[in-house]
Amino acid sequence: MGYLYTVVLLILPLIALYFQFAVSAGVPVGEACTNTSNCTDNIANTECKGGKCQCVITHYQIKNTCVDKVALGASCNATMPCLDTNSKCEKTCVCKDSFYKDTTSDSKCKPSIYPNVTCGTPKNESCVVNAYCNSTSFCVCEIGFTATKTSCK
Ligand SMILES: *[C@@H]1O[C@H](CO)[C@@H](O)[C@H](O)[C@H]1NC(C)=O
Ligand SMILES: *[C@@H]1O[C@H](CO)[C@@H](O)[C@H](O)[C@H]1NC(C)=O
Ligand SMILES: *[C@@H]1O[C@H](CO)[C@@H](O)[C@H](O)[C@H]1NC(C)=O
Ligand SMILES: *[C@@H]1O[C@H](CO)[C@@H](O)[C@H](O)[C@H]1NC(C)=O
Ligand SMILES: *[C@@H]1O[C@H](CO)[C@@H](O)[C@H](O)[C@H]1NC(C)=O
Ligand SMILES: *[C@@H]1O[C@H](CO)[C@@H](O)[C@H](O)[C@H]1NC(C)=O
Repeated sequence: MGYLYTVVLLILPLIALYFQFAVSAGVPVGEACTNTSNCTDNIANTECKGGKCQCVITHYQIKNTCVDKVALGASCNATMPCLDTNSKCEKTCVCKDSFYKDTTSDSKCKPSIYPNVTCGTPKNESCVVNAYCNSTSFCVCEIGFTATKTSCK
């Protein structure tokens, strides 16, 4: 009798522990899911996509967590990717060629502005290569360059 009690007393906490983890742990990143709640129950910023828990597009995976991708101007590398789809990693996240960093919105990369089109913000930086923003806020080609529809040559 005494022996049985000891066994039960030892096993009960283990059973409790098992259920605590099995019920609350949810599904780790990379494992099968049927519902986004399966993933988010376990890790924030996840979703059930293609039958597996994955980090949402704005986050990347480190082990079993999902971390914010890197903002424009901040340090990045192969394991810490840039957030803006129109940016690239050059030690820090910078806009790709033919895009400029718009400083009116919350720092997004926008397509560079063509000649003869109203400038963005910052004015000169918003214009395509070899163009600047004139005094009436149009992108115009620098002296010695000729405008095509989309560039200054
Ligand atoms: C997913 O889970 C949520 C929250 O538990 C629930 O409201 C929703 O109906 C579920 N969807 C499916 C397809 O099971
Ligand atoms: C996933 O979520 C669904 C809906 O809430 C639930 O029925 C199912 O048991 C969960 N699966 C896992 C592996 O947690
Ligand atoms: C990226 O930077 C982080 C933090 O500085 C570092 O832990 C990680 O090893 C780096 N990854 C690569 C591929 O350099
Ligand atoms: C600039 O745009 C105006 C109309 O918006 C047009 O009349 C003019 O021909 C354009 N100039 C060039 C160089 O494309
Ligand atoms: C600025 O550029 C636009 C578009 O090419 C042109 O219409 C306008 O006259 C220019 N402004 C000045 C002050 O030259
Ligand atoms: C914009 O570019 C023009 C032409 O290169 C230059 O004269 C002007 O000073 C620049 N404006 C600013 C605010 O940098």
